[in-house]
Amino acid sequence: MELQDKIREAFVSHFGGEGIFYASAGRINLIGEHTDYNGGFVFPGAIDKVIMAEIRPNGTDKVNLYSVDLNDSSTFGLEEADAPSQQWARYIFGVCRETIKRGGTVKGFDAVFAGNVPLGAGLSSSAALESCFAFAVNDLFNANSIDKFELAKIGQSTEHNYCGVNCGIMDQFASVFGKKDCLIRLDCRSLEYEYFPFKIDGYKLVLVDSVVKHELVDSPYNKRRESCERVAKRLGIETLRDADMEMLDAVKADVTSEDYMRARFVIGEKERVLGVCDALNRGDIATVGRLMYETHEGLSKDYEVSCEELDYLNDVAKECGVTGSRIMGGGFGGCTINLVPDDIHDSFIATVTEKFNSRYGHKPKIYDVIISDGARRID
Ligand code: GLA
Repeated sequence: MELQDKIREAFVSHFGGEGIFYASAGRINLIGEHTDYNGGFVFPGAIDKVIMAEIRPNGTDKVNLYSVDLNDSSTFGLEEADAPSQQWARYIFGVCRETIKRGGTVKGFDAVFAGNVPLGAGLSSSAALESCFAFAVNDLFNANSIDKFELAKIGQSTEHNYCGVNCGIMDQFASVFGKKDCLIRLDCRSLEYEYFPFKIDGYKLVLVDSVVKHELVDSPYNKRRESCERVAKRLGIETLRDADMEMLDAVKADVTSEDYMRARFVIGEKERVLGVCDALNRGDIATVGRLMYETHEGLSKDYEVSCEELDYLNDVAKECGVTGSRIMGGGFGGCTINLVPDDIHDSFIATVTEKFNSRYGHKPKIYDVIISDGARRID
């Protein structure tokens, strides 16, 4: 059944009648990983996989939610003390609270939602959920007076304050600002951004999802961020955006070798995003691909957010002649993004599926990337 029909059916059975539909998208990122919270550049785009919700104000001060995919309900009030216990509901509670904290209005509503963004694949299903509800709350209760950057920041603050992830702005930005057929180069310090029409003749972007999620204790994502902040502090700068290798090497003796490696990756990655954008402008696809492989190497060896399965996917891509391949998103599982020439597209998918399956006992999931619109109301 289509997503929208499934949601409507559940809305009718839980609340009766109809609401308004909203959706927001998951994202890919061509290059620029772990640079957002370092004030660097990212190069994401929204994809054709969404979280969709049907929502209707209910005239009370309570929010009633039903998640179709989890077959679970939650009801909460809009005061800070009303935080729900279920993690999935906290994303929506957080969006409501962050809107209110910014002076926006949120009243009670009934909502049913579902999605087709694969969970744990590094495609930011949580940002899609946050952006969908931030957009809806703005439309339903605030006459769209909250600007799009603020909507993205509402999602990001939700992660920080209600979900324990000290993320950057990339995912929520891409989910809110996404535009069909365009990647967006965002300067995460100035928040200046530029849409890049993205279609490379003769190539496709393919995601290979390892379907592996390594649950690591101690929130390794936040730890990576702390490493970067320590090095920036030692350098006397606000973020690693302002660092180069010469500056880093000058303080090498004063930072741990681990922090040094993390910072070395970030400094390189900042340059690689700009390199990829320049190469795309000149039609130099080989350079785009080479920089993607360099990012993988850095994420694996210096930033240490890869895992055996993702390194294997990267090796197989290389063997198959894939132009560029790298781990995508925060890491510790999830998928690789691959820039694949049309003439080897089918054989690459067959080979990587077969080899991964025989080594790990399960097939990876394969998705062709279609760059699509971000947060929207569906009329
Ligand atoms: C996660 C975070 C983003 C970003 C990426 C890594 O997706 O939510 O803010 O830091 O990891 O690039």
